[in-house]
Amino acid sequence: MMFGVTGDLARKKLMPAVYDLANRGLLPPAFALTGFARREWGREDFAQVVHDSVKKYARTPWRQETWDQLSEGIRFVQGSFDDPAAFAELKRTVERLDERRGTGGNHAFYLSIPPSAFPQVIGQLRDSGLSDPQEGTWRRVVIEKPFGSDLKTANALNEVVSEVFPPDAVFRIDHYLGKETVQNLLALRFANQLFEPMWNSQYIDHVQITMAEDIGINGRAGYYDGIGAARDVIQNHLLQLLALTAMEEPASFDAADLRAEKEKVLRAVTLPPDLSVSTARGQYTDGWRGGERVGAFLEEDGIAPDSITETYAAIKVEIPNRRWNGTPFYLRAGKRLGRRVTEIALVFKKAPSPYFQQIEGSDVGTNALVIRVQPDEGVTLKFGSKVPGTTMEVRDVTMDFAYGNAFTDESPEAYERLILDVLLGDPPLFPRHQEVASSWQILDPITAFWATQGQPEQYRSGTWGPVGADDMMARDGRTWRRP
Ligand code: BG6
Repeated sequence: MMFGVTGDLARKKLMPAVYDLANRGLLPPAFALTGFARREWGREDFAQVVHDSVKKYARTPWRQETWDQLSEGIRFVQGSFDDPAAFAELKRTVERLDERRGTGGNHAFYLSIPPSAFPQVIGQLRDSGLSDPQEGTWRRVVIEKPFGSDLKTANALNEVVSEVFPPDAVFRIDHYLGKETVQNLLALRFANQLFEPMWNSQYIDHVQITMAEDIGINGRAGYYDGIGAARDVIQNHLLQLLALTAMEEPASFDAADLRAEKEKVLRAVTLPPDLSVSTARGQYTDGWRGGERVGAFLEEDGIAPDSITETYAAIKVEIPNRRWNGTPFYLRAGKRLGRRVTEIALVFKKAPSPYFQQIEGSDVGTNALVIRVQPDEGVTLKFGSKVPGTTMEVRDVTMDFAYGNAFTDESPEAYERLILDVLLGDPPLFPRHQEVASSWQILDPITAFWATQGQPEQYRSGTWGPVGADDMMARDGRTWRRP
């Protein structure tokens, strides 16, 4: 059952992912999709919306048989979230479906809705009896971020959810964990002997985690204003990347063991004492994107003209444990930056070679291992090499692994993997509430500090963010990578 079917996420990601799973033969033939929304639609209208979204956004080719099979199981129930009768109708609809299509009576509720609507919808699922599994069947609820906007609201949300659904029935989506390259972090670190001995503060000077987007807020003013870059993506995607990069090897890749290690490292994260020098934030002004002129954040439709919401955020955190003490992690995320790229860069300490360090302008000794999450998924190792010739000149070269070259199969969309895992009841890729809470604990002092600081620094669209972010690195004698 999908709630929020008129939204962008449902159209661009969820519906195509369902089709792609069906097309890859990963859904049972009896799978059914019921949409619920206020819109005055009938079954045909909703089926048409799914059809159009699949045609436009699906990864796998169009196959009429797949569509015929899937569309027979499409239903729509019209109603608002505060209407018990609509939920009663939803219940009747899925029960009829269960009988006629032989779905087996298992139900997943996908809540792609504003967080303010969670308590109401979850209450309705309880009151209508939809959330009660019959003997031998399951009920699962899928929650899209944001999981609150700080620790307090996240705890409140968790209480609402956990009153109705037991912990193993709650699937919190952080779609970065569904990305192939993010999962590859575990393989890279723990399936190889090469990297792990150097994966610590003895060898690594610092870590940079970057999520740069070239798009602006794309018409999402209602959601974004008051939320900003740190709450939108650092609290979840970037801190999850940090956790996977910094955690210890889990006893197994079962959900309990994996989540326990992520939680442990998130709880070990600390902030430097002076947030005015260890954080930076910015707001895009007009500028250029892909050769086109684009407007400023404060001129976007729906954004308050005096909004202090940041569209760029950079923070420095420390993990003063045995492995990472002395190796800071720098996290940055921004909209309307030079290009779209997400990467994790482990920047090594300089080699203790008096000779090479003396070469003017030489970058030797600043090796970096870069995990490119997107686009051009892969891993790059940067190191110095002798330039052919009679002098001992050294230049940086790279060793590259690109998914596209090494594997012929295209990676599935993150949402395909995650939706499949929900249906299979396989939870390792879904954060537990404790991880969410620890992430808010890291972020809350920063957003509270920023709230007292007035207008963020301005940066031009198409550049690499505010000068303050460069200053923040320069104070530590470091620079941001230019991916
Ligand atoms: C979402 C954020 O979680 O991730 C968006 O809310 C952002 O603001 C998006 O644009 C980016 O996702 P991806 O997969 O394109 O990097």
